[in-house]
Amino acid sequence: MGGIERRRLLQATGLTLGGLVMPWSWGQQQQTGSTALKIPPLLAGDRREGEQRYSLRIQTGQSRFLSGLDTPTLGINGDYLGPTLRLRDGDDAVIDVDNGLSEPTTLHWHGLHVPAHADGGPHQVVQPGGSWQARFRVQQQAGTYWYHSHQIHRTGEQVYRGLAGLIVVDDDASERLALPSDYGVDDIPLIVQDRRFNEDGSFRYVSSHRDIMAGLMGDTILVNGTLDPYFEPTTEKVRFRLHNAANARTFTFAFSDGRDFQQLSCDGGFLAQPLPRTEMELAPGERCEIVVDFSDRSPVSLLSLPMAANSPNQSRGMMRRMLAANEERFHVLAIRPQSNLGRSEPLPPILTEVGSFESAGIDRLRRFELGMVMGMGRMMGRRGGGQSTAGNFFINGNAMAMDRIDERVPVGSTEIWEIHNDTMMMHPFHIHHGQFQVYRRNGQPPTPHERAYKDTVKVGPGETVQVLMEFQHFADPELPYMYHCHILEHEDDGMMGQFVVE
Ligand code: C2O
Ligand code: CU
Ligand code: CU
Repeated sequence: MGGIERRRLLQATGLTLGGLVMPWSWGQQQQTGSTALKIPPLLAGDRREGEQRYSLRIQTGQSRFLSGLDTPTLGINGDYLGPTLRLRDGDDAVIDVDNGLSEPTTLHWHGLHVPAHADGGPHQVVQPGGSWQARFRVQQQAGTYWYHSHQIHRTGEQVYRGLAGLIVVDDDASERLALPSDYGVDDIPLIVQDRRFNEDGSFRYVSSHRDIMAGLMGDTILVNGTLDPYFEPTTEKVRFRLHNAANARTFTFAFSDGRDFQQLSCDGGFLAQPLPRTEMELAPGERCEIVVDFSDRSPVSLLSLPMAANSPNQSRGMMRRMLAANEERFHVLAIRPQSNLGRSEPLPPILTEVGSFESAGIDRLRRFELGMVMGMGRMMGRRGGGQSTAGNFFINGNAMAMDRIDERVPVGSTEIWEIHNDTMMMHPFHIHHGQFQVYRRNGQPPTPHERAYKDTVKVGPGETVQVLMEFQHFADPELPYMYHCHILEHEDDGMMGQFVVE
C-alpha cells in the first residue's frame, strides 16, 4: 500500500490528527497467517545442590515484526519477551536476574505465593548493571503464571516494550492427568498483546490523555511476539495457555467457526472439571488453559470478538467512547491442522478438587474503592517525565505511595476483600501474595467459569466483587505486597496500594 492510499485509509478510519506524524495502521491489513507462531524457549533450570537455578538477563534488543523495519524492544534472554520458566511445586527455586538496561527495572512473579522479599515488586529494584536474586520454595498449584517488570511508574512502558514471560508450574496432580502437555507440540502458550507502531517501526507508547484514561490500546495483535501468526496442530487435541498480556485491552477469545472448547483452569489452578465454552473473556493479567479439538482437520481462526454491548465489563458514559477499541474484532491466530493428526487421549472428567477457603472461617472484611479523576484538567500537561506520584487513579481515595503501607494483615488470617468499582470502566484487580477465590459478585456466587483459584479479577463499572484470600505465610512487617489494577497505565498512574502480612 502506497503512502497516499495509506493516508486516505487512515483518514477514512478517523485516525488522522491534524499535523501529527501518522502511525502505521497494521490492524487494517489482511491477516492471513503468514508467519509461524513463535514458541518462547522453555527454561527448566539447572539442578544444583538440591536447588533449581534459573538465570534471567534483561536486555535491549531489535525485533523484526514488520517487513523491512526493526523495532527496538526489550527482552529477557532474548530480544522480545522472555523464556517460559518451568517450575515444579515443592522445588527450591533460585532465580538470578541481571539488568542489562540503562534504567532500573524489576521482575515480578505474577500469581506466585512467595515471600515479599522475593516478589520482584516495586521494592525489589534491580539497578542498571546490577543483579538480584529471588529465592523461594515453589508452593503452587499447577497452572499458567507469568513474570513481568513492576518498576514504579514504568511498568506499562517496560512491559509494552517486551519485559514479560510465562511461567508454567507442574505438580503431582497435573502430572497424573492425561492432558496435552508436550510443550510447543500440543501444549502451546499464547501470549496475546496489542501494539501500535510508528512509521519508523518503533513501538508507539502513550501519547495522549486517552492512552492513560482508557489504558494503551494498539491496533496490531502480537502472539508470543509474532505478527499475523499461524499454527499447524499435529495432534487431535491441543491445549492452549491463553494469556492476556496486553497493557489494557480485554480480549474475548472465540473460534471463527463458533466451535466449542474446554476450559481447564483459571489463573492459578484447575477447575473441578473441564467446562465447555464458546467464548472466553480475559482482562489484562488473566490466564486460562483451554483444550480444543481439531480432529475434523478444518482450518479455523482464533479471534478476539468485540466486547458484547451487555457485558458487565462494558464501559459506561463517556468512557464507552474512549474504550471503543474494546469493540474491535481481531484475528489472533490462524490454525491449519496437518492432515495426519496424532491421537490424543480423551480429557479426564475430573481435574481437581477445588477446596473452599470459607471453611477456615473468615476473620475480617476489607473494602477497596476504585476511583479515577474524570476531568481532563488535572491530567493534561502534567505528564511527560512519567515520574509523577500524584496520579489520576485511586484506591480508597489514595494514589499509590511507596512510603505508605495501606493495609496490615495479621498472618494466619482468612479475609474477604471487597472491591467496589466506582468508575465508568472495568478494572482487573490483582492481589500479590498468592491466589484467591471469587466469593461473591454483586452478592451472587461466581459463575462456574470463575470457580478456581484466581489472582486477577474483573470488576465491572458499578460492580462489587468479594474475594476470599488466605494469609498463612511470609510474615514481614516491613516489606509490602501490592494490590492494583492490571491496566498498566492505571497502575502506573496511582491505582495501586500496599499491604504487609505481619
Ligand atoms: Cu502482574 Cu503486581 O502484577
Ligand atoms: Cu502480581
Ligand atoms: Cu484500571
